[in-house]
Amino acid sequence: MQDTIPAHVGIIMDGNGRWAQKRGLVRTQGHLEGLKAAKRITKAASDLGIKYLTLYAFSTENWKRSSDEVSFIMNLIKQYLRSEMDFSIRNKIRTRFTGDFEGLPDSIKKEIADTIRDTADFEGMQVVLAINYGGRDEIIRAFRKYAANNAETTAEINENDFHMYLDNPDIPDPDLIIRSAGEYRTSNFLLWEGAYSELYISDKLWPDWEKCDLEIAIADFQKRDRRYGGIK
Ligand code: FPP
Repeated sequence: MQDTIPAHVGIIMDGNGRWAQKRGLVRTQGHLEGLKAAKRITKAASDLGIKYLTLYAFSTENWKRSSDEVSFIMNLIKQYLRSEMDFSIRNKIRTRFTGDFEGLPDSIKKEIADTIRDTADFEGMQVVLAINYGGRDEIIRAFRKYAANNAETTAEINENDFHMYLDNPDIPDPDLIIRSAGEYRTSNFLLWEGAYSELYISDKLWPDWEKCDLEIAIADFQKRDRRYGGIK
């Protein structure tokens, strides 16, 4: 039993489509409500003293969806970046990014880069937006950077050195990974960083998430016995 708040929480925000379907609405309406939930949970996480919050907003596989749905989500992300600025200033929240930045449309690249720059000195919670993110893709991109810098000694690769080429090597590994909407899989999220993360899966669809759901997930985490492969 521990009463510590996890320093880093990652969230797979799943179930927007099902939330809309249950109500006879179009899928995009679910994403709109999902965005509101993301804002509620960001505030809740900051109030609870979480230091890093990684939100899986768009995966490298999500491009397979219809172009209408993809552009709707991209616009929502832009909306999030703009509308959260006041909140970020008030709460000193710093925005970070993980994912294949170069593969994003130019307009969203600019919004993300501006937000990262404008919040770079904030010392409150850090929100890492995982956009065009895939865990395998992050590892491959890291390996390419590693190999380019270590052409002569690639065969001597070790975990610590390699880790420095991941997207955000200064951010500690997630203590807790939450997934909403009841699927028992990690869907290519933080594959390297999540090696020893505690998993919490909730049946509640993402648009229904409130602060109390995050509190329940944290209380569950606090009951876990983390051994990292060792013995206590
Ligand atoms: C998964 O639900 C959700 C997404 C692929 C998009 C998540 C995006 C947002 C919540 C908006 C942007 C948020 C931020 C923080 C910028 P799904 O569509 O796979 O749901 P389903 O499995 O029920 O169909």
